[in-house]
Amino acid sequence: MSKMVAPSLLAADFSNLAKDIDMVNRSDADWFHLDIMDGVFVPNISFGLPVVEAINKLARKPLDVHLMIVSPEKYIGAFKKAGAHLLNVHYEACTHLHRTIEEIHQAGMKAGVTLNPHTSVTLLEDIVDMVDLVLIMSVNPGFGGQTFIENTYTRIEKLKNLIQKRNSNALIEVDGGVTDKNAGKLYNCGADVLVSGSFIFKSDDPAGTIRQLKTS
Ligand code: DX5
Ligand code: ZN
Repeated sequence: MSKMVAPSLLAADFSNLAKDIDMVNRSDADWFHLDIMDGVFVPNISFGLPVVEAINKLARKPLDVHLMIVSPEKYIGAFKKAGAHLLNVHYEACTHLHRTIEEIHQAGMKAGVTLNPHTSVTLLEDIVDMVDLVLIMSVNPGFGGQTFIENTYTRIEKLKNLIQKRNSNALIEVDGGVTDKNAGKLYNCGADVLVSGSFIFKSDDPAGTIRQLKTS
């Protein structure tokens, strides 16, 4: 089990993004988590390709891009070009998920599938051996700073069993409401990567908070 942390820049200071990127570069964090929202798939709009491209110029760690958009398959090439290392698409947004995962791989990126809190992990039975990562939403996507949904622990355990049963190498990533209160239990249940936004960037010592999460 790996204990990785991916700070979500959604909670960073957008008037001085370079400073927060530098903090993450120097910290124990593993990836940058970038939340792309289109105002259609989720009731919020965040940032798009030019910002990803700008972040990529400064980031010295892989970009884990979380697409909360409809028709994500239309933008695979564009996100590759902007610097995405791992592209997460929502199960609920992909009619042809198998094809989309193949296209992400063909574009030269790792592929992740993301599940909203209501989507059963069992629906991944026939695709889990194809993906590099499963991103479990522990809040309803669209906003930072929401309360962690407790049922997530059970979902991780179920997913872990499914991954083992299907001989998959997929990592389990958890996103939403992650703090020092739940990080240890999430890793114990089988999570490999924890995304955290507000808890890291609103703390007095963000690099210390990243370290604290990694050692939970
Ligand atoms: C929510 C996003 C998250 C968000 C997490 O839709 O996918 O990545 O930034 O933020 P916190 O850690 O504040 O819940
Ligand atoms: Zn996210």
